[in-house]
Amino acid sequence: MYTPLVQAQTQPGMINFGYGYPRPPKDINLIARRALRQDDADIFFPHEMPQGQLTLCRQIAQMLVHQGLEVFPEDLIITNGSQQGLSLAMNYYVQPGDWVIVEAPTYYGAISILENLGAKIIGIPMTGEGMNLDLLEQYLHSHRPKLIYTISTFHNPTGLTTTQNHRQQLLALAEKYECPILEDNAYEGINFDAVPAPIKALDKNNLVTYLSTFSKTLMPGLRVGYMVVTGKHYQAIIERKLLHDLHTSSISQTIVSEYLASGHYRRHLSRLRTDNLQSRNTMLQALERYFPEEIRWTVPTGGLFLWVQLPDDIPIGTIRKEAFAQNVYLVCGSAFFPDKQGYRAMRLTFCLPPEEIEQGISIVGKLLKKYISKGCVDTERLIVKHRISNYQPLVHSS
Ligand SMILES: Cc1ncc(COP(=O)(O)O)c(C=O)c1O
Repeated sequence: MYTPLVQAQTQPGMINFGYGYPRPPKDINLIARRALRQDDADIFFPHEMPQGQLTLCRQIAQMLVHQGLEVFPEDLIITNGSQQGLSLAMNYYVQPGDWVIVEAPTYYGAISILENLGAKIIGIPMTGEGMNLDLLEQYLHSHRPKLIYTISTFHNPTGLTTTQNHRQQLLALAEKYECPILEDNAYEGINFDAVPAPIKALDKNNLVTYLSTFSKTLMPGLRVGYMVVTGKHYQAIIERKLLHDLHTSSISQTIVSEYLASGHYRRHLSRLRTDNLQSRNTMLQALERYFPEEIRWTVPTGGLFLWVQLPDDIPIGTIRKEAFAQNVYLVCGSAFFPDKQGYRAMRLTFCLPPEEIEQGISIVGKLLKKYISKGCVDTERLIVKHRISNYQPLVHSS
């Protein structure tokens, strides 16, 4: 999944609806040069502490206050992207053969780590409000999972954000069944409207591990992410970080730190939100214009993706191939389900120039119309408006 996505990104002329990253900040080269010049190069020479640079931890702790999350710099661990945070936390909480709860659909990078770990995955269907809490409770009771993985804000791939009430109920269930939560907030900060504080902000019992990244706001290639880990879990995860890579690149940390210190980050975020909102609106208009009326999609209030639900019988693999032949790269929804057994859907990034959105959506819209008018669709089974999931919980052992 990862390799073809990155390859498609480098293919000239390809309209890539699969790859969700920010537009590069214009001033990053300048900031990077300044960051590297201001200190004697010797400071980059020795190894660092595994938890990362204290200055950067302080800056991130301050930044998190604006998200409604108050933490001490000493609760932070700087990671090599949030992918490493996922891997460290999952390896800490989960042993081979353990049950783990994920949302279905969810981020495929998390599914891969769990599969690699030999975990048994339970995919709880998403509703318009987040994972179905009744089903969650049933499975917490029957399977006693060791971890709940949730993307509470601008969920990847659906773009949904859970309400404060959903967050409270999810945490209450986790407390009742003493099941840790891994809260992945990779899309932190790129919101168009106000969002509820993270679940971690409600956590009094060190049950929630939080992670995020600068990949979606600054540059994925810098590989700087962070975790908030409290209580006894902190030291245990630090030891795992040491085993993995000793510490995150000092140069990358210094660049991010300089970016935060200079005030450029705040301005950059504000510009990013405005640009992303415009792109989202362009995509919504294009979907209305070009997609057949049976198709449904989510309307995210931030993040980088929206989720398109398709009629059950549509030949999505063929459409993907035909779109690719016309230089449009699509990611099918099945990639986001444990065992790849979801329902017909696509995840689309709206973070593209308006002309690419317009052209790409018109191509995909024509293909959808072609197959719908060919009678491939059983209209009785069209997805009901507002219903995010017709997916049955999948209990999958790898
Ligand atoms: C939900 C989620 N978590 C984690 C990651 C990993 O990102 P990175 O390692 O670049 O911080 C991604 C990347 O797409 C993601 O969408």
